[in-house]
Amino acid sequence: MIFGPGAIRTLPECLEETGIKKPLLVTDPGILKADVFAKVDAVLKEKNWTYSLFSDVHPNPVEEDVESAGKRYHAEKCDGVIGLGGGSAIDVAKAVAVRVAHDGPLTGFEAQVGGYKRITGPLAPIVAVPTTAGTGSEVGRSSVIMIPALGRKIIIFSPLLLPRRAILDPELTVGLPPHLTAYTGMDAFTHNLESLTSTEFHPICDAVALGGLELTIRYLERAVQNGGDIEARGYMMIAASMGAMAFQKDLGAAHSLAHPLSAEFGMQHGLANAIGLPAVMRFNRTAAAKAYARAAALFGIDTFGMPDEKAADRAVQAVTDLNRRIGIPARLRECRIPEESLPKLAKKAFEDSCHLTNPRPCSEEDLLNLYQEIW
Ligand SMILES: [Fe+2]
Repeated sequence: MIFGPGAIRTLPECLEETGIKKPLLVTDPGILKADVFAKVDAVLKEKNWTYSLFSDVHPNPVEEDVESAGKRYHAEKCDGVIGLGGGSAIDVAKAVAVRVAHDGPLTGFEAQVGGYKRITGPLAPIVAVPTTAGTGSEVGRSSVIMIPALGRKIIIFSPLLLPRRAILDPELTVGLPPHLTAYTGMDAFTHNLESLTSTEFHPICDAVALGGLELTIRYLERAVQNGGDIEARGYMMIAASMGAMAFQKDLGAAHSLAHPLSAEFGMQHGLANAIGLPAVMRFNRTAAAKAYARAAALFGIDTFGMPDEKAADRAVQAVTDLNRRIGIPARLRECRIPEESLPKLAKKAFEDSCHLTNPRPCSEEDLLNLYQEIW
């Protein structure tokens, strides 16, 4: 990981070190028009690098993005991938590395059906350049892609998907508008908190999660209020990477509620998490009281001598207040999610694997109740 304002200038070096001669740069149409792209293009041109470009990544990436980018990769004889953007572009870059190395439909690589065994590599080197502070995909080993024929997202997982280099340059995130800074930042917050409460035993990840939570609590609001605050932007990038490292021990019910909202209604992933999280915390109040009490302390609440469940209640309130201060709507109805869709969403949320490590087991009915609570 290369971190710091101006770190993007190390991109040519990163390509050389990873053995890439002709990269396919994968990004989305928004980035293409933004200053970020011009900056990256200038860094590469200055060192006489030529690259191929795929810039059609959807906000929630779909199978077709991976297939089209893969075709371009082969046609233009590329030998490595740069993922430039939010989690979507980086996830597509990772899936392209799988796509161009192995035959067969993308669904065959789905983790749930043992697809990771079919990802034998070697894969093209991946260099990740995030322009948001949220998913932490730059330090993750999975890629989440929507498969229209299945009507849901699949997770492609393999240690080989871990990017060889991640360039964390906070200057690349300054143009992210306040609402997207808030949404992606709450995704990072949710990763850290849900990792902390996951039923998997991994105290090292717990320590990382607590560190990530502390940074998010300290800097997210600042980054939302002043997009040019490089210190806040930088620490949010680190908090996002920490969240993704921590969630090696998996997530919880907020992510299961969020995934169908994106798949069915294209809702921004971090926004969906942010709206669901306080309700999930209330649901987990007793099961996760200790972890929530630690989160409450990070919010600056004096929890000394306070029973864990009471501190947990204070943490729920603190998250609700943070959401409000950074402009997150409180309810799904404000995001035009129709009430009659909730049973279908609950069915899909139950099929999602994230809730399997939620500290309190969830039935489909529990998930429906949670949707109703936040509708
Ligand atoms: Fe997430």
